[in-house]
Amino acid sequence: MSSITFRGVTKRYGDVTAVSDLDLEIADNEFMVLLGPSGCGKTTALRMIAGLESITEGELSIGDRVVNNVEPQNRDIAMVFQSYALYPHMTVRRNIESPLRADRSKRLSKGDRDARVAEAAGILGLEDYLDRKPAALSGGQRQRVALGRAIVRRPQAFLMDEPLSNLDAKLRTQTRAELVQLHTDLATTFVYVTHDQVEAMTMATRVAIMNDGRLQQAGTPREVYEDPANLFVARFIGSPPMNTIDGQVVVAQDGTTGVVAGDQLIPSTNAPAGSAGRKVVAGIRPEHLVPHPDGTITGKVTGTEWLGHERQLLSHVPIGDSNSVQVISRADPDGDDPRPGEQMRFAVDPDRVHLFDADSGARMRRTDS
Ligand SMILES: Nc1ncnc2c1ncn2[C@@H]1O[C@H](COP(=O)(O)OP(=O)(O)O)[C@@H](O)[C@H]1O
Ligand SMILES: [Mg+2]
Repeated sequence: MSSITFRGVTKRYGDVTAVSDLDLEIADNEFMVLLGPSGCGKTTALRMIAGLESITEGELSIGDRVVNNVEPQNRDIAMVFQSYALYPHMTVRRNIESPLRADRSKRLSKGDRDARVAEAAGILGLEDYLDRKPAALSGGQRQRVALGRAIVRRPQAFLMDEPLSNLDAKLRTQTRAELVQLHTDLATTFVYVTHDQVEAMTMATRVAIMNDGRLQQAGTPREVYEDPANLFVARFIGSPPMNTIDGQVVVAQDGTTGVVAGDQLIPSTNAPAGSAGRKVVAGIRPEHLVPHPDGTITGKVTGTEWLGHERQLLSHVPIGDSNSVQVISRADPDGDDPRPGEQMRFAVDPDRVHLFDADSGARMRRTDS
């Protein structure tokens, strides 16, 4: 078990800055997910922890030891890759045992190795497959063998780079739950890389969202969903994504605040004092955009998706100068579908309308001045 700390860590490959000035503290026993689009620097960050990439600037610590110049094999960390790279000619047993045989200087006795393999196989439910070769396993089982190979080493931390991307959708969901259980059983620090926000939200104790080499926000799944630090995070987290509407802050005679966009009025209590007239982006989650006869947002329904537990309404909302935006509303699944082209009104909870500065994308808060 160990904490992992990035202090101002930058990684450059020639002109490319893969990771830029990263500050991130991963606590002991945390399940930290590094999340972001392809090319944002997730794998590079993970490989720096493993010691597979040098660090251009800054300091990386595991526990209280700075490891910038520590060789990978001396970091006591195990990495599970997207491609499992099992030895095809070896049985599952030998594959799982292989890291324990690799380093002769630290080699355990045969009895200890067998005990560790048995323990890992037990944790992963692989007891019945130990004598098979990888070719005779399903994708999910192979994935577990790769995990087994990491577990037998009893590392201080597990690093995983998109380990589920080769599995089909159903198996991914199941394996997600198994990894959470594994984290609980092993009580060890996990650092997990993915571009899939659902994986991040369902497994992480905290999510670190990256874009373009830069950390955007680190927080619990709930914090990043309910309190996104900027427009990038707001749009990246959540499915269907947050609706965003460009407008300007207005303050009514009675002091209530909101955003105007053409003829639309979007009430919001989140406008900072003195922000009247400021260009902003209003962000509304689909579940907070509610069809209601007295709503102040008007749109034309362009489609409906009935999903059993909810109905998603797609609408065009005109925002002036012959511009319009498409919005999605999560609505009650009961009753009849609205007709395509029908005019609908939507209401919002003013406390739940997020505001972002139109230029910087930074979240604006009521307490700002
Ligand atoms: N060995 C390398 N040489 C040059 N550029 C690299 C190398 N590895 C990664 N990069 C670049 O660094 C950036 C981040 O890559 P990576 O960490 O693999 O992103 P992610 O895992 O988030 O998809 C990308 O622009 C990528 O092209
Ligand atoms: Mg990657």
